[in-house]
Amino acid sequence: MALKDWSDDLKSNGVPFIYCAPPGPKSRDNILEAKKYVTSYWAGQGKSGNGWDLPLTVKRVANSLIEDVDGNVYIDLNSGISTANFGYNNPFIWSRAQKIMEEYGILGIFPSNDYNLPLMTAASKKILSTVPNGHRYRVHYACDGTEANEAALKTAISYTGRSCVVSFMGSFLGRTMGSLSCMAQKSRDADTFRSLRSSNIYFAEGANCPNCLFCDSPDSCNGYCIEKFLKDRVLTFQVSPEEVAAFIMEPYITGGLMNPAPQEFLKCAREICDQYGIVLIFDEVQSGMGRSGRMWVHEHHGIEPDIFTSAKSLGGGISPLSAAFIKEEIMEEVPAYHGSTYGGAPISLAGNMAAMEYMDQNKLLERVNKLGKIIENRFLEWTDYSNVWQTRGWGLLKAVDFREDKNKPLVDYKNKIQGELFKKGVITMSGGQGRYLSMLRIIPSFTIPLDQLSIGLDIFEEIISKN
Ligand SMILES: Cc1ncc(COP(=O)(O)O)c(C=O)c1O
Repeated sequence: MALKDWSDDLKSNGVPFIYCAPPGPKSRDNILEAKKYVTSYWAGQGKSGNGWDLPLTVKRVANSLIEDVDGNVYIDLNSGISTANFGYNNPFIWSRAQKIMEEYGILGIFPSNDYNLPLMTAASKKILSTVPNGHRYRVHYACDGTEANEAALKTAISYTGRSCVVSFMGSFLGRTMGSLSCMAQKSRDADTFRSLRSSNIYFAEGANCPNCLFCDSPDSCNGYCIEKFLKDRVLTFQVSPEEVAAFIMEPYITGGLMNPAPQEFLKCAREICDQYGIVLIFDEVQSGMGRSGRMWVHEHHGIEPDIFTSAKSLGGGISPLSAAFIKEEIMEEVPAYHGSTYGGAPISLAGNMAAMEYMDQNKLLERVNKLGKIIENRFLEWTDYSNVWQTRGWGLLKAVDFREDKNKPLVDYKNKIQGELFKKGVITMSGGQGRYLSMLRIIPSFTIPLDQLSIGLDIFEEIISKN
């Protein structure tokens, strides 16, 4: 049975529909107006550029479509950076969440961290049923991905009584000071906030396989990143493993590279943690909730983290929700050190429960794999284009990396392709790391209609074939 689409209003002129070259006059005016009042990220004038990926002023959204204020309708291959896994304005999730809230007697928000709410227990039971050995975890709710990571770090530090953390370079962890201290993605962040960054963080090489320092391709992987660099350098020259409270990493580096860590990498990290009593934290903020083709990335590997975090679409796309899933033996020892007034608000928990029902009813995990396969089949031909160096990713966490060769990223070319896609009505987001900001992500909603996905990919291919 085909999945129901609810974007009729937006697709009455066909999709994509470019009425005037974006950004159109209303969008431009709106952006100038907004800059007088708001300080959102996109409005910032970064030293290096405009401060936003695409000059898009959104009027309304439905499923995988975005209409701008000039009447242009775009196919969104970015799903609001994974916040809209279930499509924008999903009518089932909205109405079901409302019913769930009514059933539990609280609408909207409530200081859920401070009282016992049966709704929280019900939501936790359901989400934990999707986690391997879920009965061994407890859920701590917060609002943002970064907050869930703060909760994870604070818990690991208080549990172990140790003060150092080893973070794996390349992961994105968040923008609050704890997460930011643990993040080595942009030297600019370190430079700007040095005074507030903890000096107890040590950096190991992450699973940055496409940019590997030690071997040319995953086929010739010698495991030096973890075997030699982590063990023989970081844990020998810089910090003793006995001092380390936690390892923190994205097991599937998303925006920074779109690369799943090899099984051996994660296995080796797990073994070191077991040997020295270190808490292993996986950030699945973007890669969790089904994006990789399985509900959780660590499921692919059969490796259990002690704590893992999730956010983005966790609240079903109707309200912010993040969570740190913490092993019971840790929670038995320490109180929940993190707290958040709105964490686990009834509307977010109800959104989560409704989304879980929606996933089950529509067999969405199967759909993620089916759509992922369709993209992969298209990718097979794309590497013939001279500027496409690699295509990669699992499920609906995919990217196209534009380089001449491994060491020659085509950043300007990538920007050009992204701009051309935008002009033709397809939204993508860029990504990468350091001087390798050379990839475009393809992370559509799980609910994107097949024809819209195909049209989006056709336009993508047409543009790279002509440029
Ligand atoms: C992998 C990952 N971790 C953490 C975060 C931080 O989440 P938030 O922006 O909700 O704080 C993000 C956000 O982009 C992310 O992609």
